[in-house]
Amino acid sequence: MKIGVMCSGNGTNFENIVTNPICRQNEVVLMIHNTKKCGAVKRAAKWGIPHVRIPHKDEDKMIEMFKVWRVDLIVLAGYMRVIKNPSSFPCPIINVHPSLLPKYKGLNVVERAMEAGETKTGCTVHYVNEELDSGQIITQAEVDILPDDTVESLTKAIQRKEYAILPMAIEMFRKEYEKNVNSKV
Ligand code: GAR
Repeated sequence: MKIGVMCSGNGTNFENIVTNPICRQNEVVLMIHNTKKCGAVKRAAKWGIPHVRIPHKDEDKMIEMFKVWRVDLIVLAGYMRVIKNPSSFPCPIINVHPSLLPKYKGLNVVERAMEAGETKTGCTVHYVNEELDSGQIITQAEVDILPDDTVESLTKAIQRKEYAILPMAIEMFRKEYEKNVNSKV
C-alpha cells in the first residue's frame, strides 16, 4: 500500500511511519509539507523520500501530486492546517491529534486539557472529514496527567503513545484495503 504523508513540523510521527516494523508492508512514497522550516524535510531526505512544499491553500496541487504517486492512504502527521475539501482527495485521509477526541479539537489542546484540570488526556487517530477533528475515530490511547507535568513533558508522553497508535491504525486500514483489492481480482 502506498502512503502519502503531510507535515508542518518536526516530523517525528512521519519518521516513525517510515521506520516502524508494523508499517513495513507499506511504502511512504511522498511527503508534502506547507512550512518553510519543516523538520520533516530533513527526515524525508534521510530516508530518500520525495518531498515537496505546497502552500496550504493549493489543495488542487496536493490532489494532483497524490494522484501522480498513486497514493492509497494519506496520513496527516502534524499537519497544522485544515483540509478544506477532503472528499476531493484521491483516497481516505487520517489524522493524529493530541487529545481524546471529541474533547479538545483544534489548537493548543495539551495546554487546554491541563488548564481545564483534566487528570487524563491522550491521543486519537481519526478519519478526516469536512469538520475540524470530527471524523470517525479509528483508535485512541489515554495518558495520565501527572501533578508535576509541564506542557512539554505531557506533550512528549502523548507523542510516545502516538508512535504506537498511528502505525496500528495504518495497519488496520491496510488489512481492509488488501481485502478490498483481493476481492476485486
Ligand atoms: C503531533 O503530536 C500531533 O499530534 C500534532 O502535531 C504533533 C506533530 O509532531 N498534531 C496536531 O496537533 C494536529 N491537530 P511531529 O511533527 O513530531 O510528528
